[in-house]
Amino acid sequence: MGSNDIPVLNGGFAPIEHEYTIELTDVEGEIPKDLTGMHVRNGPNRRFEAQGRYHWFDGDGMLHAVEFEGGRARYRNRWVMTQGLQEELAAGQALWQGIKDPPRKDRPDAPLKNTSNTDVKYYAGHLISMWYLGGSVYKVRPDDLSTAGMLDLDPRLKNLPISAHSKVDERTGEFLFFAYGKKSPYMHYGVMDRHGALKTFMPVQLPGPRLPHDMAITPNYSVVHDLPLFYDMEAFAAGRHKLKFYHETPSRFGVIPRHGTPEQIRWFEASPTYMYHVSNAWEEDDGHGGTEIVMTGTPFRLPRDWRGNVDVDRFPKMLANLEHDFMFYEWRFNLRTGQTRERVIDDIINQEFPVINSWMQGYKTRYTWNVLMGRCNQPEDPRFCGFVRYDLQKDSCTTYHEGVHKWFSEAPFAPADNWKNEDDGYLVGFMWDDLAQASFVTVFDARDISRGPVARIRLPQRVPNGFHATWVSGERLRRGW
Ligand SMILES: [Fe+2]
Repeated sequence: MGSNDIPVLNGGFAPIEHEYTIELTDVEGEIPKDLTGMHVRNGPNRRFEAQGRYHWFDGDGMLHAVEFEGGRARYRNRWVMTQGLQEELAAGQALWQGIKDPPRKDRPDAPLKNTSNTDVKYYAGHLISMWYLGGSVYKVRPDDLSTAGMLDLDPRLKNLPISAHSKVDERTGEFLFFAYGKKSPYMHYGVMDRHGALKTFMPVQLPGPRLPHDMAITPNYSVVHDLPLFYDMEAFAAGRHKLKFYHETPSRFGVIPRHGTPEQIRWFEASPTYMYHVSNAWEEDDGHGGTEIVMTGTPFRLPRDWRGNVDVDRFPKMLANLEHDFMFYEWRFNLRTGQTRERVIDDIINQEFPVINSWMQGYKTRYTWNVLMGRCNQPEDPRFCGFVRYDLQKDSCTTYHEGVHKWFSEAPFAPADNWKNEDDGYLVGFMWDDLAQASFVTVFDARDISRGPVARIRLPQRVPNGFHATWVSGERLRRGW
């Protein structure tokens, strides 16, 4: 099968070949003058064609950054120079196949290539890029996107596959991480301070291998996930990795004091589900002298058969096929009673990739902006059609999209300089226009997305559809953490 036949190597997905640094001047609308900082997005961009079957998640990580200052914008893109990519460049060809093909048996240190293509955050003066399967974290210089090597880790973390959705607490500069694997205890949790010193590290004993994607943090607690969609354990024992949804097994959420000990982990049970991303979490007084941890996120809307029962066989296939049907949801873990309460916030709009004002991570938020997901199951899915803005205080939402030919991307909230209210700022992201065959940077007023972008900035080359993005304010860049 040539690349022409593979949807996720064509159209808005096709890899690009060049690394640019360029001032952006083709602007429709106006770039806000009170927007200072950088938007950075990670995503797959295959450097060498490999043997075997290509999956969208296989491409080498490439960062695309747009720096804003005084109403001007500059674009830059560069590959993350991972160990694997460096080896392939030296060989002049691909040395690994993708996740759909067998791992390399001759490389126990790297059976799969850590492409570092999934997430990006700002920590201890560097951008850090991370991989969804967990692995070494790469440091990238924010001024020119050159790779500065791997994040220096405490010897206790050697070979620990750090998850892509580890968190940075902007208020303390700490890096809070989890790692999961196929051997007992199956998970670890830890916290590094803003200078890189490991302050807390502990095993999190799970009943077996699990596939958690995200975690949540509040000022005093971290929440890790043990969800009942994981391997078919019979197949696993025979060495095969087949997914199964254990629909009668509760979801479990482990609440850990941020700098606690393994004995202090408290597990809360909830309805069986699977989720990728957390929107936010915070601590609330429960009205009886206790504390409740509130967590919001976008779990799957479970597929059901004609009787209304969960379609247990179909659910794992949805994940494998990137068939997306998500809702917005809330869990409440009461530390006084040990009970969980949960509710659907919205199961009408199909949505994922939630963002908040990241200064408010861990604190009660009123607003969330999520990506609208295309409902139809087209070969070129997943399609990020637009955005939905929730006002949780008013229990209302507004949406924005521009039909089936505009593909948006995760658009982190970028606070306006001197912001006061939680939603004083912008949503900055990329957009691929399938008709114009051009990529744009889009800037929305986060207070009113329904007006469409306040600035639409044409890019010199396509930005292939990708994964996670972050906003780093000018203030944080100056501060260095
Ligand atoms: Fe993710």
